[in-house]
Amino acid sequence: MRRGTLLILLGIALVVIAIAIAASLLHGGLSAKATPTRLEAFVARNARHLAIPRNARQTQNPVLDAPEVQREARLHFADHCAICHGNDGSGDTPIGNGLYPKPPDLRKPATQELSDGELFWIIENGVRFTGMPAFSSNGDHDHAMGNHGGGQDSWKLVHFIRHLPHLTVTERLEMERYNPKGPEDRTEEQEEDQFLNEATPKARPESQTHKKK
Ligand code: HEC
Repeated sequence: MRRGTLLILLGIALVVIAIAIAASLLHGGLSAKATPTRLEAFVARNARHLAIPRNARQTQNPVLDAPEVQREARLHFADHCAICHGNDGSGDTPIGNGLYPKPPDLRKPATQELSDGELFWIIENGVRFTGMPAFSSNGDHDHAMGNHGGGQDSWKLVHFIRHLPHLTVTERLEMERYNPKGPEDRTEEQEEDQFLNEATPKARPESQTHKKK
């Protein structure tokens, strides 16, 4: 008898929890424009933390920080990551704002307090059910900056993420030149080139002599 009541209460509690979880997941009609509820963000963050193997989290960065390492990582970030995270790591980009969950501000404590190993693991493996892709260095992508294997590029990016809260304006401006260019930017560049080419004849010696008279 008592046991029966307990089972019924347990059943009701489970149904209530299931409804709460469903409501928390389905809010906003599954639109990516919505922002995750606090509960969902909390559960997701902890699940991600637990899913990353402990020894991976405790791995130390084998790459020494140096100005050249920072520069390489900075330009790599501009080329591969800024489209979602922004050059400054704020995540305030058209694509970033349209993702669910949105990329967090990488300069804030929530990210900065993750261990080097955890940041590295996230860059290498990505985060399932989110827009964060895997950038595993033993995968197939190979880019202009050179892929050294062994996750070297990702370890360098970890150094850059540590530097993000202190990014200078000069560094940000340099990054802008390495952001991927779309067709619009290319047309604009072509128009500029054309304009400059048309302007050059004036500088040629013969046209100058011709003009002088
Ligand atoms: C297509 C969009 C996209 C691109 C490109 C991208 N990211 Fe992300 N990134 C995300 C999203 C979305 C998250 C949030 C994932 C989550 O909530 O667990 C994220 C999370 C992260 C995190 C974890 C931060 C935290 O506090 O949870 C790191 C570190 C990170 N990205 C680094 C990078 C680096 C480095 C690159 C480039 C090599 C990159 N990302 C490229 C979308 C992107």
